[in-house]
This record gives sequence, structure tokens and C-alpha cells, in this order.
Amino acid sequence: MNVQQSIAMLPTEEAAKLRGRGPVSARPYFDPDWWELERKAIFLRTWLHIGHVCEIPEPGSFIRREVEFAKASLLIVRGKDGAVRTFHNACTHRGTQLTQDTHGKRGQFSCPYHMWTYGTDGRLITAPDFDRFYVAKEDCSLKQVATEVIAGLIFINFHPAPKQTAREFFGPIADEMEGLPMARATSFTEWSYEIEANWKTNFDNFQENYHLRFIHPRTGEQIIGPENPFGYPTHYGFSGPHRSQTLWKNPSPPPVPQTMVMAYTRMAGLAAKDEGTFAKTDFKLFPCFHVVGLPPNQYTHTMMPLGPHRTRGTIRMYWTADAENASRLFTREFTAMSIRDVLSEDRHAVEAGQRGLNSGAVEKVHFQDHEMLPRHLYETVQDKVAEYLAEQPAS
Ligand code: FES
Ligand SMILES: [Fe+2]
Repeated sequence: MNVQQSIAMLPTEEAAKLRGRGPVSARPYFDPDWWELERKAIFLRTWLHIGHVCEIPEPGSFIRREVEFAKASLLIVRGKDGAVRTFHNACTHRGTQLTQDTHGKRGQFSCPYHMWTYGTDGRLITAPDFDRFYVAKEDCSLKQVATEVIAGLIFINFHPAPKQTAREFFGPIADEMEGLPMARATSFTEWSYEIEANWKTNFDNFQENYHLRFIHPRTGEQIIGPENPFGYPTHYGFSGPHRSQTLWKNPSPPPVPQTMVMAYTRMAGLAAKDEGTFAKTDFKLFPCFHVVGLPPNQYTHTMMPLGPHRTRGTIRMYWTADAENASRLFTREFTAMSIRDVLSEDRHAVEAGQRGLNSGAVEKVHFQDHEMLPRHLYETVQDKVAEYLAEQPAS
């Protein structure tokens, strides 16, 4: 069997693991009522990627993250004991946000309103004239959000008592992530974007290759070739609610510009020297987190919903050593911007797709076998919403 045949054959077996191959409802991709169900059933009780430990390297280091779908401002703090904890940025006296700083380092957090002061472990340490309150200090700690670190990545869960630890939730993928360079990262290059699209519409764009030859005719040449004209992956995997794929690489890609050759050659050198070697992993972690490991590049892409029709994407390339000279800095910036260029090519198609869906004109959407990852996400979302509804008391 040649490569073309084996790629064409591949989805038969993998796609058959899903529930069906027919059309699915378009409603989850645009309906505000459905989004509200997803918000409660998924986003308020699932492990979500929120940061990396290299952002809070020392005791007292903190970052602030706004999570719009939960109306939450969060402080992720490394305590004096070294533990990573997440607190709501809301004073327990009367709710005032403790800080507007996006990051910093503090031995304690004092509320600007009446100076209630909290330790890095969230406990109320002092409060002026506290004798006139009829409550114990122990009952005034900052409200905590479940937090866990895997592979250097910080995950949070808004559920007060998550059913699974993050490690249980990610299963064997957690161990695979621990082996990736990002687990040892000391810095990163980041950019973000906001897009007028449902989080699934946007996420699906990054988990199917069917569009590559039409949307990325130039930048997709490395993974599209005569043997594989759509650049379909060579393997798809499912692990609970999560997915993975192995990308195919064009064995005879067209020549690339000299600048890119320079950057990638240097990058490959860096990868060998500093980053070690890692597999061509491409994880699509539920609900909205990609870990893309394509030597010599590795990046994460988080797509946080801002509402039914709007999403914020954050992309990070992680580094395990300082860029100690201009050449290395150039290489990093160039590779990061190359990825940004490719991703920005998708924007118009994704937003145009969302506008069509919002019109309500399309009642069903269709997934072919090589769009099995979007289908798996659709099915997983259906299951999570059904699970949530079954848990609600009958009214
Ligand atoms: S609201 Fe924070 S001390 Fe009063
Ligand atoms: Fe794309």
C-alpha cells in the first residue's frame, strides 16, 4: 500500500469509533442558550489552562488573569511555601478587587479600600479594628479556585470540588506533556487575538486539515504534497474527551525563502542543543487547549470563549534557555511570527463561517472522515451537557 492509499484508508477505522458519520445539529455553534449550557456544564467545571509556572518563579510572584465567561478576576500566586494557588481577586470584606496589576511580586495582598491584608496563602492576616466584626479571621480567607500544575502548565477548575484531578482528567497525555520541553520552560513568546466566532467554530479550524490547500496554499506547502493533496494527518487518536493527530510532512517541499531557511536551521540547531528532541505531537485537549509539538517549534494555543460568538486565542512558544544573542532572538521572533502569519490566514474563513451559522440558515453541519476531530469535540460537548442536565433536580 502506498502512502496515498494508507492515508485514504486511515479514517475508516478511527472514524468508526465515533457515533456516526451523518450531519449534526448546527445549533451548538451559534445559539446563545446552548452556550449558556456549555458555560455551566463545561467551562465552570473543567480543568482549564491559565498560565505557566515560569510566570511565577519565586515565592510571592503572582499573575492576574481575567476569565470573562466566569466574570472572574483571578490571582495565581506562588506562596511562601512554594505552592501554586489561585484566588479570586475579591476581598472577603466587601468584594473589592485587591489589585489591578497584571503581575508582580508581593509578600502580602492589602485591599485598597479598608486595608484587609492577606498572605500569599490567601489567609486574612490583619484587618483594622477587627474586634468590631463578628466573624473569625479564619473564615475570611480569599476564595480559592482548584489549581494543579502539569508539565509546567497551570490548570484551574472553577468547580468547588472537581470530580477528577487534572492528572486524572488528562490521563496518559499528562505524562506525554511532562516529556515536552515546555515542562522545563523558563520563558515564552506570546501573542493573542480576538475573533468573532464561537469557541468550537474556531477550535475546529485548528483540528482539521481539509481547508489547508484552499486557505494556506503557500504556507501549507510543507504539509501538502502530491501524495497527500489535502495534507491529511497520518494518525488520529482519542483519549477520553481529548484528541491527538500526527501530521504528515511533504517529503519534497518547495524551496522556502532564504530567511526562513536561516531561521529554521538555527532553530533546529537550538532544538538539538537546548530543547532535546520531542515527538510530532499535536494534542487537542478538552475543552479548548492545543499543544502543538512540531520540531523545531512547539506552541500552545488556548481558545477561551468570551460569549457565544466571540473567542480569545492566546498562543505561546515556550523556551528553555535565554535568547542570549541577537541571532537567537531573531530566530525566535521569526519562527513565532511565521506561525502567526499562518494562523492569521484562517481568520477570514472562520469569521465568515460564523456569520453564516449565526444567520440560522444552516440547520445541519457535515463532517467528513478527516474531520473526525471536530466531530469528536461535538460529541464530547453533547455528552457533557447531557451529563450536566441529568444532574439537575427536576423542576
Ligand atoms: S472591601 Fe476590602 S477591606 Fe473593605
Ligand atoms: Fe488553517
